Amino acid sequence: MNTIYLDNNATTQAAPEVITEMLPYLKDFYGNPSSMHTFGGQVQGKIEEARNRVAQLLGADPEEIIFTSCGTESDNTAIMSAAESYPQKRHIVTTRVEHPAVMNFCKHLARKGYRITFLPVSNKGQLNPEDVVKAIDDDTVLVSVMYANNEIGNIFPISEIGEILRERKILFHTDAVQAVGKIPLDMKELPVDMLSLSGHKLHAPKGVGALYVRKKTRFHPYIIGGHQEKGRRAGTENVASIVALGKACELASRNIDEEVAYLTKLRDKLESALIACCPDVRINGDAGSRLPNTSNISFEYVEGEAILLRLNEYGICASSGSACTSGSLEPSHVLRAIGVPFTAIHGSIRFSLSRYNTEEEIDKVIEIMPGIIKDLRMLSPFGRDSMNKCAGQQ
Ligand SMILES: Cc1ncc(COP(=O)(O)O)c(C=O)c1O
Repeated sequence: MNTIYLDNNATTQAAPEVITEMLPYLKDFYGNPSSMHTFGGQVQGKIEEARNRVAQLLGADPEEIIFTSCGTESDNTAIMSAAESYPQKRHIVTTRVEHPAVMNFCKHLARKGYRITFLPVSNKGQLNPEDVVKAIDDDTVLVSVMYANNEIGNIFPISEIGEILRERKILFHTDAVQAVGKIPLDMKELPVDMLSLSGHKLHAPKGVGALYVRKKTRFHPYIIGGHQEKGRRAGTENVASIVALGKACELASRNIDEEVAYLTKLRDKLESALIACCPDVRINGDAGSRLPNTSNISFEYVEGEAILLRLNEYGICASSGSACTSGSLEPSHVLRAIGVPFTAIHGSIRFSLSRYNTEEEIDKVIEIMPGIIKDLRMLSPFGRDSMNKCAGQQ
C-alpha cells in the first residue's frame, strides 16, 4: 500500500537533492570546521555556501543568519536574547495561538517574573494589529507573533505589526517555521528584527534550524561555549544538516510561486469536495489569509482520532491537531482560541500538503473520506441525525 503523506506541517520528506548534497558531509568530509588543517577547514566553505542560500531565500544578508538545532531553539534564543539584552524591561507580548516553542517559553519567563500578554484572535483566527498597539508599553522588551499558524495555516499581518513596532522602537520576533519555503518572504521589506525557521518543515532533515537576526539588533547568545557562528551560537556545527538546509532553501527559492499555485489548487479541490459531500463540516481559519498547503477541517459528531485511524488503514497520514500536542487529549489551544465549539474541535483534522503530493492522492482522499465520516457518524445518535438530514436533502 502506498503512503499518502498529508502531514507536512508536522514534518516533511527530505528532498532527494538535499540528501545527495548532505551525504558527503557525513561520509567523506567529516572534519571539524574549526580545525586548523585543510581537511576540517574545507568544510567551513560549505557552511558559508549554505548560509548564503538561506539568506537568499529570505532576501537577507548571510551575516544575519545563525544556524541552530531546530525551530524551537531559534524561538527560545530570540526571546531570551531580547530579555538578556534589555534586562530592565519585563514585558513580552505574544498571542494565544503560538506554537509551544514560543508559548511555553513565555510561560517559563512568566514564572521568573515577566509579565506576558497573550493576545486574543478572532473567530477566523485573525490578529488585530490595534490589539498589539494597546498591549505594548514602556516596559515591553519584545513582541513575538508567529508568521503562519501550524494548525490552521493563518498568516498574520506581520508587516503591519512590524511597522507599528519599528516606529515605537520595540523588538519584533516572528516564528516563521511554517512560512519559510512555503510562501515568499523578503527581509528587505519585512520590518522584523528576528525570524525563526526550521529545516524539517521545508524538505531538509530534522535537527537543524536558523535564526535570522537583523544587523545592528542587540543579540545575546543562548547556547554559550565555543566561538562558532561568530560567538552567537556555540557548539560544533551539524555540518551535513546545515548543508542540507542550504540546499532545501535553494530548491524552495527556485519554484516558490509555482508551488503556491499548485498547492492552493490541490488544497481547494480537497476542501470543496469534502464540503460538498459531507454535512456539518467547517473549514477552520481565515480562507483569505492562509498558507496554501494547510487545511483544518472539523467534522461534527465524530472523533478526530477515529478518522485518523480509519485514514491510516488506507495509508493516508494526517493529523488531529499540532503534531506536538496530539498524543494528549487536551483539545487544541488554537481551535479553542478561535472559538470552535468543543464538539467540532474533537472532530478536527489537519491535512497539510507538500510539493510531492499529486492530484491522484487528493482524489483518493476525496473518494474515501465521505464513507469514513458516514460510518463513524452512524455510531452516535447525533451523527445519525446529521446523516439522515443530509439524505433527506438529496
Ligand atoms: C510554528 C512552529 N514553530 C516552531 C516549531 C518547532 O520547530 P522544531 O520542530 O524544528 O523545533 C514548529 C514545529 O512544529 C512549528 O510548527
